[in-house]
Amino acid sequence: MTFLLLPFWGQCFLAVVGAIASYVIWAQTYWARRGVPHTRPVPVLGNLWDTIRGRRSAAEILGEMYRRFDKYPVVGTYNLMRPVLLLRDPALVKQVLITNFSSFPVNEVVYPAGKDELLSENPFAADATRWKDMRLKMAQSFSPARVKLGFEDVRSSARALAALIASESGNSSMEASLLARRYTAHTSTRALFGIESHSLEIGQAPGVFYEKGHEIWNGNFISYFRILAFFNCPDLLPLVGYKMVNSDTVGFFRKLVVDSVEFRQKEGITRDDLVQNSAMLILKDGKIDEAALDTVTGKALTTFSETFETSAMATASALLHLAISPQHQDRLREELRGAFPDGNVEHDKLMELRYLDQVLKEVLRILPPVEVIRRRCEKTTTLQPEEGDAVTVEAGTAVYVDIVALHHDPAYFSHPEEFWPDHFSDEECESRPKCVYLPFGDGPRQCVGIRYAMQLVKVAVATLVLHFRLTPGPEQVLPVQRDPASLVLGIKGGIWLRFEPLDSQA
Ligand code: HEM
Repeated sequence: MTFLLLPFWGQCFLAVVGAIASYVIWAQTYWARRGVPHTRPVPVLGNLWDTIRGRRSAAEILGEMYRRFDKYPVVGTYNLMRPVLLLRDPALVKQVLITNFSSFPVNEVVYPAGKDELLSENPFAADATRWKDMRLKMAQSFSPARVKLGFEDVRSSARALAALIASESGNSSMEASLLARRYTAHTSTRALFGIESHSLEIGQAPGVFYEKGHEIWNGNFISYFRILAFFNCPDLLPLVGYKMVNSDTVGFFRKLVVDSVEFRQKEGITRDDLVQNSAMLILKDGKIDEAALDTVTGKALTTFSETFETSAMATASALLHLAISPQHQDRLREELRGAFPDGNVEHDKLMELRYLDQVLKEVLRILPPVEVIRRRCEKTTTLQPEEGDAVTVEAGTAVYVDIVALHHDPAYFSHPEEFWPDHFSDEECESRPKCVYLPFGDGPRQCVGIRYAMQLVKVAVATLVLHFRLTPGPEQVLPVQRDPASLVLGIKGGIWLRFEPLDSQA
């Protein structure tokens, strides 16, 4: 009755508010209507709102749900108003990543071709059809033989890093993430273009390749909103725009590809790298094919940026954990000195070292650079947990795996909050179910750069542990805390280490 007494505009206003409220209630009762155990969302804002404010990471919030709903295989939650299914049971993780891959073949956000030089050419954001071809080509570039071929370049970069540290550290501490990014900028520039980046030059600034890597990962004010849309509301991307990398940086890599191809043509140089492969693709009758150049630039950006940040942070995090656990550092140095008495690492022996492998696996367990896997269901599918009722996932639903929560679950790791390389002893590994240790994901979409990344990290860590004793600097914030605002792994306050030179043959 009161409603009818309102003026017409008042009735319209109330009708609109009522319709919106009904939609929000309907959207945010998705899991309740399906009888799935679920969290109570903040109206409209859902459960991951703190990630938008940069207060907590998605992994932290999902981790709380993971622990709170410990009797259930899944938890229904909301990213703003979109329903998200958090998988708890490793049997379900295995079905989504591996055995039922055809129903979950894409990540949550798909970038259409040509929208962004970086993400449109990265298999990570490709739709199922474009992904197959991209993945195949990238996997060929990172085959075991190709990665091994690059070992010499990686080793000489690690030596340059050690020389830089020796000349600049003195008695003061150095920021290890910066050092590690200078190392990855240097190695990937060599591997991709066959040129010197000058990122590890003694007495010099980190250089333009370091700056480009930093720009790609830190973006600007506009890309910040696009990143928020990417993680929280992908439907907004067509409105806010897809471009994540600024045009100067794209132009820099584009020019680098063209200049390198032309220089090699002129000088008759051949070398098995991206430039050589690009030459075949971008030169048509002696002229540059612009469309092919876009694709090649995207590939260069993808490989450069993926290597720059994730591998650097894994390296820096390994150095930090060894610095704060001297007993593990000593044991590792003993193994390395036994294998390389002259202080020079070699490929085959390095890859076989048992304790080094355990240490790095543990580093990636305790602080995995990528925290959450976010897949999208493409075909309505019923999943069967280890125990309890089957769960039906409708097409279009986002499905998340919280890597951090699984890595810190005492059901799978005996000392979940400690740095404990024996988590990767044969005994502990044998008793662990599949799909609870996922630093590189799993299944057909598992990280394609895994071998290259592990080679980079192993060579740097082994070289530095052979040449320096590592201790935390006085600036180091302990206990170590992740920075929730970082896109991949960031450590609050940075990673401050002292490097005391050693006689590697002692
Ligand atoms: C320690 C370093 C690294 C870590 C921890 C890491 C981790 C990951 C993770 C967790 C994924 C998602 C896997 C999934 O969805 O199942 C991924 C995907 C990917 N990574 Fe890495 N990564 C690292 C280094 C690299 C490097 C060096 C490259 C390339 C040069 C690379 C290229 C990629 C690509 C292209 C994908 C998407 C694969 C696809 O969707 O098919 N990553 N990575």
